This record gives sequence, C-alpha cells and structure tokens, in this order.
Amino acid sequence: MMNQQMMDSLNNQVKMEAESSQAYLALASWADAQPGLDGVAEFFYRQSDEERMHMIKLMKYINERGGFAIIPALSQPQITYVSLKSAFDLFLKHELKVSESINDLVETALKVKDYATHNFLQWYVNEQMEEERVARLLNEKLELIGEDKSGLYLFDRDILSGKQKA
Ligand code: FEO
Repeated sequence: MMNQQMMDSLNNQVKMEAESSQAYLALASWADAQPGLDGVAEFFYRQSDEERMHMIKLMKYINERGGFAIIPALSQPQITYVSLKSAFDLFLKHELKVSESINDLVETALKVKDYATHNFLQWYVNEQMEEERVARLLNEKLELIGEDKSGLYLFDRDILSGKQKA
C-alpha cells in the first residue's frame, strides 16, 4: 500500500494534468476560431491529448499500487487571449509550473523512501524537459517574428513539422 502523502501528492498531479489538458483545449478552441491559425489549433489539440495521456498514466499507476486515483472537478480555464504571443507565454508558464510540481513529487518520493514511485516519475522528469524545450523554442520564434505577417504564416504552417513535436 502506498504512503498516504505520496498518494495524495500523485492525485494532486492527476488534477494538474487534467487542468493542463483543459487549458490546452481552451487554447486550441481559441486558435481554431481565429483566421489562419489552423496549425496552432491542431498543435494545442494534440497537446491537450498528451496531457490527458499523462493524467491516465498517473491514474493507472496509483491504482496499480493499491491506491485510488481520484477524478477531480476542474475550474474554467482561460478562454481568450490578446495575442498569439500571450497564448504561448501561458503555455510556457504552465509547463514550468508542471515541472516544479513534478520536482516536488520526486522530492516526496525520496522523503518517504518510495523508490518505485521515484523510478516511475523519471518518465515525467524527461517529458517535462522536452515540453519546456518546445515551449521555449516556440516563444523564441514568436519573439523573432513579432508582427510580421509572413513570419506568422510560416510559424503556423510549420508548427506541426520537424523536431518541434506536437
Ligand atoms: Fe503533462 Fe505538459 O505537463
């Protein structure tokens, strides 16, 4: 049976991944409703799916270890954005918050000597490094592009291709 503090912290992460999924679904819908942002919309639809997968992976682990994964109530995510840059700023800020939370989980696992969970969490540590990398890269590109319309066109066209991952 898993340590109670560990289980509560993992359930807290279930909620965070669910909130991430909702937040990116809201970003996807916002982008979908803007002219010419089909690529960005698809990027966030996929990102939302990924977060749901992160959540389910955690749920299955909790239940497998004799705990009980709790499906949380979710609050309304931000639904409109003043600019594409502000949307991607939120994406990066959110991922940094998730990384911090994963790091706290790793710390808890060590504190309660739950080495199986510590091991399980390494997947999330690596995943967060990748998500942060992508979020930073996209923000840097948008900074370079500024208000340049052809740059924005290419940004949207290329967001799903190459090594950016979606
Ligand atoms: Fe599952 Fe992007 O944090």
